[in-house]
Amino acid sequence: MERLAGRVAVITGGGSGIGLASVRRLASEGARVVVADVDEAAGAAAAKEVDGLFVRTDVTSESDVTALFAAAHDTYGSVDVAFNNAGISPPDDDSILETGLDAWWRVQQVNLTSVFLCCKAAIPYMQRQGKGSIINTASFVAVMGAATSQISYSASKGGVLSMSRELGVQFAREGIRVNALCPGPVNTPLLQELFASDPARAARRLVHVPLGRFAEPEEIAAAVAFLASDDSSFMTASTFLVDGGISGAYVTPE
Ligand SMILES: NC(=O)c1ccc[n+]([C@@H]2O[C@H](COP(=O)([O-])OP(=O)(O)OC[C@H]3O[C@@H](n4cnc5c(N)ncnc54)[C@H](O)[C@@H]3O)[C@@H](O)[C@H]2O)c1
Repeated sequence: MERLAGRVAVITGGGSGIGLASVRRLASEGARVVVADVDEAAGAAAAKEVDGLFVRTDVTSESDVTALFAAAHDTYGSVDVAFNNAGISPPDDDSILETGLDAWWRVQQVNLTSVFLCCKAAIPYMQRQGKGSIINTASFVAVMGAATSQISYSASKGGVLSMSRELGVQFAREGIRVNALCPGPVNTPLLQELFASDPARAARRLVHVPLGRFAEPEEIAAAVAFLASDDSSFMTASTFLVDGGISGAYVTPE
């Protein structure tokens, strides 16, 4: 399918996991892809693979983010899709009783402030075009509580969800769609890092997933391609759950 032929897509955190799978998927659907990552080696390799552009970006820096969207526009002539996806889930973000302000702020900056900055930078290009699709990566933890808390992470994703909804409503009549992508647990380095030391922690979570497994990054990238394309033209301000059924489950199959 060439649903994104002629479109320019900016993907933050494109060097790994969901971002990398989305770089590949959006390119395979015809998009010219701009990869943004703080990891130069991984980001440059991802861009090279799809003959795209790599822009070294720290998504917590307003000047970096402004330069990123300017580079996309200057190089390829438009900004049609912004997949604001970079995020972290560090081990020192834990129960509210254990988590210090350092970890709290670091996670808020990378997961939430970054989405504010990327939307702020992307929207003016899309307003001038009268068209655009913004996809912000939230998480299923934005709609469900966990006793195994990562307090700043959950709060940051709740922020991404409500900010996306608000922007989707505000800019709807200017042709700009904004949706929050809410993945369930996905088999990426972010999750592997969290569970590698403790298989019991992974098992405790898996039992809640009706499909009985974590998602593969390609399954999330397929949803990103849908939200990026005109196939989702009547969708905005949505909570787009791709979660293996977790959020709908009470008792799961044995
Ligand atoms: N893996 C999961 O289970 C899961 C579930 C729900 C939501 N998410 C969200 O999906 C997104 C992607 O997660 P992933 O699992 O693919 O993670 P990942 O760790 O595999 O990839 C994240 C990428 O973001 C980059 N990055 C980190 N900080 C950055 C910064 N300051 N500036 C620019 N780039 C930066 C990293 O270098 C990395 O390439 C995150 O927002 C995450 O919270 C993940």
